[in-house]
Amino acid sequence: MIKMKHLTGLKNLTRLDIEDILELAEKLEDVYLGKKKSNILDSKVLATLFYEPSTRTRLSFETAMLQLGGKVISVADAMKTSSAWKGETIEDTIRTIENYCHVIAMRHNEVGAADKAVAVSSVPILNAGDGSNEHPTQALLDILTIKKEQGKIDGLKIAIVGDLKHTRATNSLTIGLSNFNVKLLLVSPPEFKTSNWVMDIVEERNCSYTQTDNLPEAIKEANVVYVCRIQKERIDDINEYKKIKGTYVVNRELLEKAPKVVTVLHHLPRVGELSEDVDDYPGAAYFRQTFNGVLLRGALLLIVLNKIPQKL
Ligand code: CP
Repeated sequence: MIKMKHLTGLKNLTRLDIEDILELAEKLEDVYLGKKKSNILDSKVLATLFYEPSTRTRLSFETAMLQLGGKVISVADAMKTSSAWKGETIEDTIRTIENYCHVIAMRHNEVGAADKAVAVSSVPILNAGDGSNEHPTQALLDILTIKKEQGKIDGLKIAIVGDLKHTRATNSLTIGLSNFNVKLLLVSPPEFKTSNWVMDIVEERNCSYTQTDNLPEAIKEANVVYVCRIQKERIDDINEYKKIKGTYVVNRELLEKAPKVVTVLHHLPRVGELSEDVDDYPGAAYFRQTFNGVLLRGALLLIVLNKIPQKL
């Protein structure tokens, strides 16, 4: 089983590491469905330190901890409600909070913030998103969802659609999936392509991919369509934002043209790029995806706290 102190990104995780994490996450399903009880983390405290807004990531980390018997302390909106507002650095904040908890899940607007935290922290750091860089726990739960929905990962054609330049979740997902025998269909306007540093990893691993702006054709070819939000808050130029807004909308009509039912995923929140008429499409899996976030984050807490049980 994987041994890991921190998780800042998916760059350094192997296929075997990812498979170990997914296997443990799936074993937690009965606990999180209330069919079994576990207090395995009863002496442990999780701090969630969020400098950017969140619904799913923060709350799923917290429920993952609580339902394994652990405790949670939380700072939401840390730019305003923590001493960051007075100018405290990430490093000093971590050096303080590490005295109050056993593990920290941190989200920050700055690329590399998780690495800064790791450099000074005596407790595990789980990157809950750092700027436009990585969102590794999201990508792992996405891969878990693909596995649960499709029954496998190898052999799939996976379309990743939207603002691929600014989306940290798709950076991590692309890197994570590049460990597997998949074909990636990267769908975006030319100005919003996946960053070179991510594509370099995909190429080093000889993962099959195409980059296209043709959404209907990609949907016809894909087994899985992963839609992402336009990251308005990370686009400085409003004219650049206008170029992509409304250009890639996945709706029922498009999906019905595919020869097979495709699994539809979204990291959420959605803001127009995934139509609500998809919600009762047979392949729509984005709300099940949010539940998988609890399983996956529970597994990560057990791994970094070195509390992997022999039996659940
Ligand atoms: N997917 C995701 O990161 O959602 P939140 O921003 O709500 O945490």
